[in-house]
Amino acid sequence: MSVPGWDEAPHMSALDAASSAARNIADLWWLFFWVAVLVWALVMATSAYAILRRRQARDDGPDPSPGAERASVIVTGGAAAATLLILFALLIASARTSQALALRPPADALKIEVTGQRWWWLVEYPSDVPSQRVTTANELHVPVGRPVTLALQSRDVIHSFWVPELHGKRDLIPGNLNELHFTVERPGVYRGQCAEFCGLQHANMGLLVVAEPPERFQAWLEAQRAPAASASSSGVDASVTDGERVFLGASCPVCHSVRGTAAAGSVGPDLTHLMSRRMLGAATRPNDRGELAHWVLDPHDAKLGTLMPPNPLPPERLEPLLSYLTSLR
Ligand code: CUA
Repeated sequence: MSVPGWDEAPHMSALDAASSAARNIADLWWLFFWVAVLVWALVMATSAYAILRRRQARDDGPDPSPGAERASVIVTGGAAAATLLILFALLIASARTSQALALRPPADALKIEVTGQRWWWLVEYPSDVPSQRVTTANELHVPVGRPVTLALQSRDVIHSFWVPELHGKRDLIPGNLNELHFTVERPGVYRGQCAEFCGLQHANMGLLVVAEPPERFQAWLEAQRAPAASASSSGVDASVTDGERVFLGASCPVCHSVRGTAAAGSVGPDLTHLMSRRMLGAATRPNDRGELAHWVLDPHDAKLGTLMPPNPLPPERLEPLLSYLTSLR
């Protein structure tokens, strides 16, 4: 099965840094790694030397000279001092990295609001003009080369935003605003994951970050700002128009919104440009007609514990509804 998000982002690795912040963290990791390797090699080498020497000493008899005692004091003292120095140097390197990560972003940084909830991510691009505000879910788009600030909060319990290629973990806490800053340096699709246990579907609370060149990002943003392709406009398939009627007549609008229609619920993800997203259910399933049918009919089979109730629609209502949903591009 081909899942676009998975194909493009097959792994999550903090060492495959794609942003300035992640590179700082990876550099620190490699420094710790090589210092540890060096210390390990030195300890192994001196241990081997000591064992060989002891074997020799057993054959020759004990060394009675006062110099031997002094040499062992110097070596032991030197090793203790070196340990202290190394730990202190690593402490300074660690503090410098923390300092670099805490730097305030420039004023023109792109601001994105991310709200965690069980078990998905609400993503909003604020604007001074209310109609220009963009609301989407589980998929962030960011321009490459421009600083990004994420404003993180939660609607229910504590979650944690973690996209290893872009930054370390940062908690989303109810009633508290946390921030995360990074500048993506390499285009790509990066997978993220909730990193704080938040209940039944914690492991399936994923997200994708799509980093693209500025002009492509701008085009995406403009497309997201547009209202939904209205089913009532001319030239639209009759089954799409029927489907909009099914959507608005069922319980869907209680929780979901589709801009340009009467549906204005805010409990579940905004569906205005549903099909522009690569995946469904917080990056757990591919986003296609079959998976949508699965979600609509039995969301608890797709994602146990989700707040969405089952909708056992007969085929003559389900088919137009799917045509309508898949028309939301
Ligand atoms: Cu949200 Cu774990």
